Amino acid sequence: MKVVITGGTGFLGLRLARQLLAHGTATAPSGKKEAIDEMVLFDVVVPSARPEGLDDRVKIVAGEIADAKAIDALIDTPNIGVYHLASVVSGQGEQDFDLALNVNLRGHLLLLEAVRRLGSRPRYLFSSSVAAYGGAAMPKVVSDQTKQTPQTTYGMTKAVGELLVNDYTRKGFIDGRTARLPAVIVRPGKPNKAASSFISAVVREPLNGVDYALPVPLETRMPSAGYRTIVSDLEALFEADGAKLGDDRAVNLPNLPITVAQLIESLKNVAGARKLGRIDVKPDAFVMSVIAGWPTTLDASRAEVLGLPKDTSLEDIIKAYIEDYA
Ligand SMILES: NC(=O)c1ccc[n+]([C@@H]2O[C@H](COP(=O)([O-])OP(=O)(O)OC[C@H]3O[C@@H](n4cnc5c(N)ncnc54)[C@H](O)[C@@H]3O)[C@@H](O)[C@H]2O)c1
Repeated sequence: MKVVITGGTGFLGLRLARQLLAHGTATAPSGKKEAIDEMVLFDVVVPSARPEGLDDRVKIVAGEIADAKAIDALIDTPNIGVYHLASVVSGQGEQDFDLALNVNLRGHLLLLEAVRRLGSRPRYLFSSSVAAYGGAAMPKVVSDQTKQTPQTTYGMTKAVGELLVNDYTRKGFIDGRTARLPAVIVRPGKPNKAASSFISAVVREPLNGVDYALPVPLETRMPSAGYRTIVSDLEALFEADGAKLGDDRAVNLPNLPITVAQLIESLKNVAGARKLGRIDVKPDAFVMSVIAGWPTTLDASRAEVLGLPKDTSLEDIIKAYIEDYA
């Protein structure tokens, strides 16, 4: 079968690709696990050098998710599985409304329509976000049953995407699943335009010996999870029994309800003798305004019933980052 990952050369897309290639199989539209003999990483940004760990089953395709022709060429066989990760991220979506609508809504619809035309009802996993929640009436703890009144354009596009996935599934066009991701740590390399970027940078930059201006107060709370776990969650949710998901296909992923202060404390414990860069708190009004509406505690009991993997310690997440990237 063919597996498509949109946003496939992004942070999570590439890691997911390597994991799926290592496992070698995925559930096909037939309902049976089949060998993955073709994988396409579709992304508007394609690195000049081929990333490591991709074998000859993988084709990297440069393309725009809101380009109907490119999507028709991508979704070209009924025996397919789709992971839709391509997205304008939170900070960027707040600064460019038109771009967020074009990519996150129009692009998503084009992809869903192309998959629908196949007529094979393939599995389809969409990556949503905790930013799909928000608003003054949001309870302290949000669960899969909490009403979504997002207060960012990014969050709105994710909430709409979740409803689309539910309805395309109800109509029998796809076998959809939505993973609602917490903040994923520790993102390597350069910061991206996500407003939550600080939650990785506050570990990564000091570990690199670089001083870091933290744009939020130390007591800021953010549901977070390690990238190894999140990638395993995406695969596990794609593979989960659809009957157990019922008519609401969106699931909060397991997470740790951490504060930035706890993260820094864990970093110091793990760093040992390593000399860390300094962390100075310098609140940034834009970052604080975007994250102000996000939930601080995310109930993932449904994911736990489904048996999705869960982190057990912040220190292990930081150790994994050091092992993989530092
Ligand atoms: N990393 C996190 O903390 C986090 C948290 C919540 C949700 N998510 C969601 O998970 C998914 C993957 O996140 P990530 O951390 O790997 O982000 P990322 O930015 O590294 O990857 C997203 C990829 O999408 C691509 N893309 C953007 N616009 C596109 C377009 N118009 N056409 C084609 N490709 C396009 C980007 O080039 C990028 O490679 C996204 O949908 C994101 O919203 C991530």
